[in-house]
Amino acid sequence: MSSLRQRLFGTPAPDTPIRVAAATSATTPATDTPMPVAPPIQEAYLRLKSGLHMQLLERMDLGALEALGDASLRREIARLVEQLLTENPAPINEAERRQLVRDIQHEMLGLGPLELLMADPQVSDILVNSHDQIYVEREGRLVLTTVSFTDDTHLMRIIDKIVSRVGRRIDESSPMVDARLPDGSRVNAIIPPIALDGPMLSIRRFAAIPLRMKDLLEVRKSLSPPMAVLLGALSRSRTNMLISGGTGSGKTTLLNILSGYIPASERIITIEDAAELPLQQPHVVRLETRPPNTEGRGEINQCALVRNALRMRPDRIVIGEVRGAEAIDMLQAMNTGHEGSLTTIHANNPRDALARLESMVSLAGVNMPLRTLRQQIASALSVVIQVSRLPDGQRKVMSIQEISGMEGEVISLQELFRFQQTGVDGGDGVLGHFEATGVRPGFADRLRRQGLALPDDLFDPAPRYP
Ligand SMILES: Nc1ncnc2c1ncn2[C@@H]1O[C@H](COP(=O)(O)OP(=O)(O)OP(=O)(O)O)[C@@H](O)[C@H]1O
Ligand SMILES: [Mg+2]
Repeated sequence: MSSLRQRLFGTPAPDTPIRVAAATSATTPATDTPMPVAPPIQEAYLRLKSGLHMQLLERMDLGALEALGDASLRREIARLVEQLLTENPAPINEAERRQLVRDIQHEMLGLGPLELLMADPQVSDILVNSHDQIYVEREGRLVLTTVSFTDDTHLMRIIDKIVSRVGRRIDESSPMVDARLPDGSRVNAIIPPIALDGPMLSIRRFAAIPLRMKDLLEVRKSLSPPMAVLLGALSRSRTNMLISGGTGSGKTTLLNILSGYIPASERIITIEDAAELPLQQPHVVRLETRPPNTEGRGEINQCALVRNALRMRPDRIVIGEVRGAEAIDMLQAMNTGHEGSLTTIHANNPRDALARLESMVSLAGVNMPLRTLRQQIASALSVVIQVSRLPDGQRKVMSIQEISGMEGEVISLQELFRFQQTGVDGGDGVLGHFEATGVRPGFADRLRRQGLALPDDLFDPAPRYP
């Protein structure tokens, strides 16, 4: 566990002056839905807060507080602030007093002004472009907030705190760091000289309650009922699948949902760069890569983990996202008895996804004739699912395609379902429907033999959804 000094200050030496707390926004941000914002901050309030903050740091017995958990520490900070206010009464009302305690707690234990955004469950990403320009993604759309840090030093202190908590360091010599917040959210920090206009922070939040198939079907309308039936059956029947999509398109969410169909009797090994798959089955073992340490040593990459996983008697291997040299090990695993493995890949359409897989294998230095490599891919994978984030923030399963074999040098893909865009709704709203193409997949017979017969009319192109 990180030391209290790290929890409270980040890495700077203890005598490094701690800057004044941030002036959080005073006005409502430019969005229809209210954003949690602090009430107006006055100069006097800021001075009072900064003074209290300093006194608190002087008064706290770090040694004695070391053993406390965050909740107790939060209470202790509140108690000390109240005590200081009793000793030196300030002309503030009850609401200001409560806000003072909360702001100082946020500063000392949390992410300062970002705590306001973290408290909003609708915020999925927090993008700090500079100390005074912070965007969030809510409901799939990027919105500029009025939350800000006091200055770059203040932002830097919070960044330091985040990275030192996970035992990493950020400075001029290593100006980019990936880290994770205690709640599982992924964080990337990048600072000058690489970031030209000051420190930047990107927080991809971990959904506390992950979306389920029901949400995708009924609330988000991300796919149609027949598509959901098909994907569920494919996952149960040990079909190797690749989920392809762009950044934030919902790949991991869908991977998690599909993994949910794996029977409880099977042993699942998950391999991720930053563990975020909250699988619910009883028999799941999780592996996570490790970046090199500050001397550049000790890295454990996905490739090593896939090889190791094969020695752990997996029934299924779920790889968060295939990015590089592990592609060939994964394909071999899929071809040699670990059917039902699932992964995601960053690509804009199924054809590109296969091309990316090819290039990952080639770049890993595997010397294999192209046709052989394609045959490996075609026999390893049965289905590619394409997901997209549309301009209006919706996520859709754009296409489900079967890999049906090879035609000459080329892997054959057959589209089974698609989202057909029919128009736009006013601004950037996308209109359209899901439909089957009418193609009956080759795997339908295998599924029937496994006792997972699909309804005869599942692939009928006639019904459109919605
Ligand atoms: N079908 C969906 N409908 C609405 N929102 C969704 C849907 N799927 C995912 N999301 C939301 O979109 C965000 C990104 O989802 P997710 O992490 O699954 O995407 P990703 O493609 O794996 O992203 P990355 O490129 O960062 O790996 C999350 O906030 C998630 O809750
Ligand atoms: Mg992902």
